[in-house]
Amino acid sequence: ADISKIRNFSIIAHIDHGKSTLADRLILRTGGLSEREMTHGQVLDNMEIEQERGITIKAQTVRLEWNGYELNLMDTPGHVDFAYEVSRSLAACEGALLVVDAAQGVEAQTLANVYQSIEHDHEIVPVINKIDLPAADPEGVRQEIEEIIGLDASEAVLASAKSGIGIDEVLQAIVDRIPPPKGDRDAPLKAMLVDSWYDPYLGVVILVRVIDGVLKKGQQVKFMQAGTTHLIDRVGCMRPKIEQLPELSAGEIGFITAQIKEVAETRVGDTITDAKRPAPAPLPGFKEVQPVVFCGLFPVDAADFEKLRESLYKLRLNDASFSFETESSAALGFGFRCGFLGLLHLEIIQERLTREYDLDLITTAPSVVYRMHLTHSKNEPAQVIELHNPADMPDPNRIEMIEEPWIEATIYTPDEYLGPILKLCQDRRGIQKNLTYVGTGAHQRAQVTYELPLNEVVFDFYDRLKSITRGYASFDYHQIGHREGDLVKMSILVNEEPVDALSMITHRGTAEARGRGMCERLKDLIPRHMFKIPIQAAIGGKVIARETISALRKDVTAKCYGGDATRKRKLLEKQKKGKARMREYGNVSIPQEAFIAALRMG
Ligand code: GTP
Repeated sequence: ADISKIRNFSIIAHIDHGKSTLADRLILRTGGLSEREMTHGQVLDNMEIEQERGITIKAQTVRLEWNGYELNLMDTPGHVDFAYEVSRSLAACEGALLVVDAAQGVEAQTLANVYQSIEHDHEIVPVINKIDLPAADPEGVRQEIEEIIGLDASEAVLASAKSGIGIDEVLQAIVDRIPPPKGDRDAPLKAMLVDSWYDPYLGVVILVRVIDGVLKKGQQVKFMQAGTTHLIDRVGCMRPKIEQLPELSAGEIGFITAQIKEVAETRVGDTITDAKRPAPAPLPGFKEVQPVVFCGLFPVDAADFEKLRESLYKLRLNDASFSFETESSAALGFGFRCGFLGLLHLEIIQERLTREYDLDLITTAPSVVYRMHLTHSKNEPAQVIELHNPADMPDPNRIEMIEEPWIEATIYTPDEYLGPILKLCQDRRGIQKNLTYVGTGAHQRAQVTYELPLNEVVFDFYDRLKSITRGYASFDYHQIGHREGDLVKMSILVNEEPVDALSMITHRGTAEARGRGMCERLKDLIPRHMFKIPIQAAIGGKVIARETISALRKDVTAKCYGGDATRKRKLLEKQKKGKARMREYGNVSIPQEAFIAALRMG
């Protein structure tokens, strides 16, 4: 294609401001789909519908034709957990549509996304969406964009994606204001691997942005970071239906297939070059993504273990960024230790396992990756291990120092919720960095920045934030590295025996409160026995919280075993069935359900 007629752009927005609806409108207007196909739902982010249509699960990029221009609309994952994927998608574009809800104004993710876009030198076109709403205040939002973000919004496009207002203006603004890509068609091939996914018909499909040179069917290419070579067997684009093309040239975005079996062989950010005429150097910015949040996933019904394994394999076909390995727990039986890019990523996988694979699962407390510095003598080299599972914690005597990951969080909130938010952050060991007010009048909001240990955020922080602000605050974060922390492993003991699935790593200062909470819950969940059962939370040998389940009175059990023969037999049968799911702690049998309930409540 003629490079001067190409425009590559993405749409950035806070959740629910109308990104998908606008994308659908642009596709509809430029003829990619008919109104009838459209009414089946949102094209860019509805997995089930897309599967049915046999298009592709992740129609990540759509090519639009508009007045002789080739517009490549790149969809970016909407959440901070996928920050690296987002950054690669943005690196593949020259501009962005900034969609802001005319009634809501600028929110935390709007800003986080805009800053990233600015870092990639994008030309940003503000679009004030939902102007059809009675509560719309386009003028106020325009000012907000100028004041808070510092963008010139005098030429912001006013639109309603839902009612189809301002769509041609948006398309024209893309052509007029976003610059064409730069690149040299005759230089050696250099293409960025932006994303990849598994398609049941095509195998692994790779989304690429060609920087220089040309990609063609039959070409032998090399993945510079992975060091592998592949033969390209398809080249094309999505409109959003798949269309094969003779080539993709400098400046273009499209897909290739190369008989690759697993998504894990393709690394986002890798450089694809010609095997015979390679580029002198790979593209900058390659990064290998690592899971940062780990937890155990166990089937509630032990019989579902194999089904869970298969489901995890299937999900991994499309998401090489999460990891899993088998784990066995005395309390919960067999399951998997899984690693995720963040809490939301965890929730997405959990949700898909439940909804798409119909699994009933129990999740252990999420844990971050700790760096354990082990003690060593002078002539030994320093030894640092990464800990993903509290169960693997080394003997405290062998630990010299523990480091934990920290994040910088930005929260936007109406003023009235500021007090409780500051308290929440403070309780979670937060360090306040900044507090300002943005916007004016009804749109005024406080913007607070905190440094927080990630460990404190994975533990119900979102839920608390949501409930204390009734959903009015928005939250965004990025990692800022590891710092030393006064961290301990807290064990929960039932009848003097530790319950592995309930142990956790926590800050010394919050251990007692968390330990007490868990003991109280277990006290209500564990059935009474003939004797007293102590439930304790302990750090090393030191008990920091304790509850006691009182003993049953003798005559109560006596009554159970009385009665007629059939009733007695039924009771025994029931007990036998129950036995399989009982876990023994000392001489205490505890139904697995008690642990599950304790974790669910936590
Ligand atoms: P995520 O996919 O969750 O990130 O949200 P999104 O930004 O893609 O927003 P989406 O397009 O799903 O729109 C969110 C809601 O706003 C939906 O209920 C849309 O129907 C509605 N919506 C989108 N555009 C408009 C608009 O112009 N006017 C009105 N009234 N509603 C709109």
